[in-house]
Amino acid sequence: QQQTFLMVKPDAVQRGLIGEIVQRFERKGFRLVAGKLVRMTEQQAEFHYAEHKGKEFFGDLVSFITSGPVFAMVWEGDEIIALSRTLIGKTNVKEAAPGTIRGDFALHTNRNLIHGSDSPESAAREISNFFGTEELVRYERQIEQWL
Ligand code: GTP
Ligand code: MG
Repeated sequence: QQQTFLMVKPDAVQRGLIGEIVQRFERKGFRLVAGKLVRMTEQQAEFHYAEHKGKEFFGDLVSFITSGPVFAMVWEGDEIIALSRTLIGKTNVKEAAPGTIRGDFALHTNRNLIHGSDSPESAAREISNFFGTEELVRYERQIEQWL
C-alpha cells in the first residue's frame, strides 16, 4: 500500500479542526501509521516546501507554517496520494468543491487548513522530515477486506 504525509496546518489547529480532519481520513478507510503535534522549525519548513523555493509567496508560506503547532501524520492506503488530495480539495479556495476539507472550511488560499503530498517522491521526503522509520507503526485491521 501507498503512504502519504498529511499535515493539519496551524490555522486548522487553532480553529479546533484536528478531529474533524482526522475523522474524514479515518472514515474513508485509510490507516493511520503515525501522528504528532509539533512546532516546525524554519529549516524544516524550507525543506518541506523546497519545491516552492524562489517563488514570491515562499516567505509567507514559511512564516505561516511555522506560526503555530501543526499535526503531522503518515497515512496508508491504496492510491492514497491521489485520493487524499481529492478529499482535501483544490489549492485555490475558489475552486475547492463543497464536501472537500478546503471547500467546507477554508476561506483563504494561504490558510487552507491541510497539506497532502503530491507524489510518492514528495511523500518520502516529507515523511523523513518529521518521522524516523521506527515511529511508523505497522499493524493489521480486520476491516481491511471490506474496504
Ligand atoms: P500544500 O498541501 O500546502 O502543499 O498545498 P497544495 O499542494 O494544494 O498547493 P501547492 O503545493 O501548490 O502550494 C503550497 C501552498 O502555497 C498552498 O497550500 C497555498 O497556501 C500556497 N500557494 C500556492 N500557490 C499560491 C499562490 O499563487 N499564491 C499564494 N499567495 N500562495 C500560494
Ligand atoms: Mg503541495
